[in-house]
Amino acid sequence: MAQPTLKTEAGAMDLPGLAAEPSEGNGLGLSRSLLADCERRVRAAVARDLHDRVAQPLAALLMVLEDVKQDPGDRRRVIRRIDTVQDQVRTALFGLREVLCDLREQEWLDDGLVGRIRGELETVLYQHPHLRLRLTVSPRWPAAIRSRVGDHVLQIVREAVHNARFHGGATGIDVALRVTGRRAEVVVSDDGRGLEGRRVRPGMGLLGIHERATLLGGRVVVGERPDGGTRLRVTVPREVLG
Ligand SMILES: Nc1ncnc2c1ncn2[C@@H]1O[C@H](COP(=O)(O)OP(=O)(O)O)[C@@H](O)[C@H]1O
Ligand SMILES: [Mg+2]
Repeated sequence: MAQPTLKTEAGAMDLPGLAAEPSEGNGLGLSRSLLADCERRVRAAVARDLHDRVAQPLAALLMVLEDVKQDPGDRRRVIRRIDTVQDQVRTALFGLREVLCDLREQEWLDDGLVGRIRGELETVLYQHPHLRLRLTVSPRWPAAIRSRVGDHVLQIVREAVHNARFHGGATGIDVALRVTGRRAEVVVSDDGRGLEGRRVRPGMGLLGIHERATLLGGRVVVGERPDGGTRLRVTVPREVLG
């Protein structure tokens, strides 16, 4: 069978990685540079996952421990902080398990997503005690969802909440998980400065959200709320939840 064209002149398809070198004895007709390109992409995906799912909760945990060291407070306060640290260790362990399962292409039904989102919001609140954070879960949101989908939802919420606080300077952030008809929605609304009439220029964060939504067969809309602030809405087909 003819290889995809390697020419790059106008109109021709340029497939990076399919370089014009002969296949080098791997018996599959794959070029070394194509294999190297695949390996690079897999490594990049693993690096992203380890950063998001493991390194971030561990970094947050260190901050809490540092804070306890500076000012332990009374026994009740210490116990509350130990609870937070335990949540973060669980999140990191869970993240690591997910990365390993992903690498082995295993998937399971996860009944802990809402709890982990709640834990995530509690950690944000711990670091920014003056924020008003609210999580609303519609009764039709399933109790257990496919683990990979749950992970995308968690990362989307994490980034959107970070943006609301960091870029929007929001004091109030609402996170909603909804199911309406055949669609499921993750909506993060804030009362921050909004987009101030600017077109959003996606950085790594929104790009990641967009990629995750696309992988789930859904779409993302980011816009101003009529009463100020920003709303990010990710809509996916209900059946992808599991
Ligand atoms: N909730 C928000 N409120 C105000 N501006 C936002 C919000 N979310 C995103 N933005 C805007 O979109 C831009 C891109 O966000 P993002 O892709 O997450 O990039 P970054 O990596 O800079 O966080 C931000 O620089 C900001 O201008
Ligand atoms: Mg961001």
